[in-house]
Parts: sequence; C-alpha cells; structure tokens
Amino acid sequence: MTFDANAVRARVPALKAGSARFDAPGGTQTPQPVIDAIADALANPLANRGLTTEGERNAEAVVTRARRALADLLGADPRGIVFGRSSTQLTYDLSRTVAKSWGPGDEVVVSRLDHDSNIRPWIQAAEAVGATVRCAEFDPATGELTTDDIAAVLSARTRLVAVTAASNLIGTRPDIPAFADLVHRAGALLHVDAVHYASHAAVDLPGLGADFLVCSPYKFLGPHLGVLASRPELLETLRPDKLLPSTDAVPERFELGTLPYELLAGGGAAVDFLASLAPGADGTRRERLLAAFTAIEAHEDALRARIEQGLADLGGITVHSRATHRTPTLLLTLAGRSTTAASRYLAERGVDAPAGSFYALEASRRLGLGDEGGLRIGLAPYNNDEDVDRLLEALAGFLGTTPAVG
Ligand SMILES: Cc1ncc(COP(=O)(O)O)c(C=O)c1O
Repeated sequence: MTFDANAVRARVPALKAGSARFDAPGGTQTPQPVIDAIADALANPLANRGLTTEGERNAEAVVTRARRALADLLGADPRGIVFGRSSTQLTYDLSRTVAKSWGPGDEVVVSRLDHDSNIRPWIQAAEAVGATVRCAEFDPATGELTTDDIAAVLSARTRLVAVTAASNLIGTRPDIPAFADLVHRAGALLHVDAVHYASHAAVDLPGLGADFLVCSPYKFLGPHLGVLASRPELLETLRPDKLLPSTDAVPERFELGTLPYELLAGGGAAVDFLASLAPGADGTRRERLLAAFTAIEAHEDALRARIEQGLADLGGITVHSRATHRTPTLLLTLAGRSTTAASRYLAERGVDAPAGSFYALEASRRLGLGDEGGLRIGLAPYNNDEDVDRLLEALAGFLGTTPAVG
C-alpha cells in the first residue's frame, strides 16, 4: 500500500482554508483526532495528578499515556521523557542544570548549523560559570557538518556537545551516531536538537547515541509543547532548581509547575496519528511508527524531487539546501529579488512559504545570507502534488512579473 497524502489531508481541518502550505518547519496543521484528544481531556473531570478523585486519575492517565507515546516515538524509556512548554525552554533549563558542574577550564561545543535555541542557552550557561564555548563550523558550499568539523573543536576538556540532527534552515542531516562516538570517546555528553528531524525521520535515542534530545510535537502534527528525552539514570544524576514541595522523582523533577494535561493528551494522540499512517497496520506502536516514517520519507522525498526539478526549470533560483543527507526543506534565494516580497506574492495566491532565517541566524550568516535568510519551502505528510503545482506556478508568476532589484 502506498502513502495516501489525500487521506491525511481529509483529517486536517485547517487545510480546508485552501492554502497550499509549505510552512511546516515552522509548525504543522493539526489532525482532528489530536484536536479531539485535547477537547476530551478538558471535557472530562480534570484535577492535579493523583489517585483519589476521577479528575486526579484522569490527569494521571493522561501523563502516563503521553510519556509512553513519546517514548515509542523516540525509542526511549517513558521514565526519561520530560515535558515542557517548548524545546527552547527545556534546553535553557537543562543547560543551567548541567552547567552547575562546569567551571573555568571546561569547554562546551555548539554548532553554527543550529537553531539559536541550541546555541544561545549553552553559551549563556557556559559564560555564567566561566566555561569556554567552542563552535563547530559547517561548510557553506556543501551545507555539510562533518565528524572532522566536530573533532576540530573537541578536547579532553569538552563537557558537552550541542548539535542539531537536522537544520531547520537548509535541512542538513549530520551523522549524529558518528558524532556520538567521538563525543563519548572525549568523555563528553551529547545534546541533540531533533525538533526539525523528528518531523521527517524516525528518532532512535540509543541509535543516535544522544544523551539528551529535544523535540516539539507542534512540528509533527501535535500541539504546542516541548519534549526532552534522556536516560532516566542520567536524569537521576542532575539537580535542576525546583520548588521545595514538588516531587524529586525523575522525570517530574525537571517539570516545573503543573503540566498542560490537555496538550499532553494531544501529544499522545499525534503519536497515534503518525503510527496510523503506516502502510499496513501490524505490529507494536513503535513498529508502526518506524513503518510510517519510512513511508513519510519516501512521500516527502518524491515531492522534494518534483519541486527541485521545477525550480531548476524555472531558472534564476539558488537552492541553498545541498547536503547529501537532508530533510525535504529547501532554502531559496531568487536572483536579486526580495524573498520577503516573494513570500507575500505567494501568500496572496494561496501558497504559504515564509521568508527569513528562522532563528538559525548563525547558519544564515555563514551562508552569506545575513539576517535575512531566504524563502523556505518545507513539507509535511499532508502535502500533495497539487500543492507542488501551485507553488511552482506562483513562483513562476513572481519571477515573471517582479524585476530584479539592486
Ligand atoms: C531545529 C529547531 N530547533 C529548535 C526550535 C525551537 O523549538 P520550540 O519552538 O519548541 O522552542 C525550532 C523551532 O522552529 C527548530 O526548528
């Protein structure tokens, strides 16, 4: 059975507004079962977690189900799943916690390929304790971040390396398992930003070799939420700042205040929705998720190939996404024309593709695109051939009618 994007579309009410959407790397649209799960959590008795009242038990069940679901998605232990408001918040909190054991002479490595949420928190945490920050550089010509690039900034003093599993700007998918080998041989920890990666590929926490990994369900058909995955034994060794009466148990130790139960319910439902996209419905949820992502990757790669061919036929377009292994995320500049104007032109014609540097500011500057970035074309499981036709037609219209500037 092949992947059926139109069956996915039929279950995503926001798509009825009619736009061809290429803005998924900023956040996906939400399927009805996810919306229903959020509404159900709120339509039934709900209280703070506990076992006495129905509301308490409902909250408890929501949390348990959500940890199991995200653990299945990430190949992790449910006891190592931490929920938070966003990946940025979780990374900030984790950086301050981990940095408690750092001091002058210690080093932390970040990469210029990353979203700022996996750069700035580590720089600021290091600065606060007098540790040194080193930056791994990617090759702007190829978009690749290699093991050599990481090795060049590793030392016996490195305590942690923070790196992305996929660039939200140009899609590059570095070889994280190879990085993990290097990092662990240097005696350091590996923190992986999988926010963009988790929308397009199956995550396997032990397979990647990540000690910590963050992702955000609103990038893969779920609600606005952040998730940190780690090994419970590692989390046990860390002491985040927390309130005195709140539990010291792992993973709750890392979850400040009351969890957004309704969003957790939606996050679990998003995982089930993704699992339901497996061609053939056999096996455990983890097995169905692996099959679903194989199908999603094939579907998105086919659309990406059509877009790339169409862009080449149009001419005058530079595609900055060039790495061998990458997500279907294309960053374009348009031969002297403003990408902001292009984004506006497309939006007026019902094609949503934003322009910018998307918080991957360091990467955009290194690509020579300054703070402006480019026009980003991103895909989700609900995109289809008709969307691609509309995109290419609108881009042709823009290039045909808008003179180059400067
Ligand atoms: C690669 C990447 N990392 C981190 C983030 C930040 O995620 P959040 O909005 O959950 O903080 C984003 C959001 O666009 C992203 O694309």
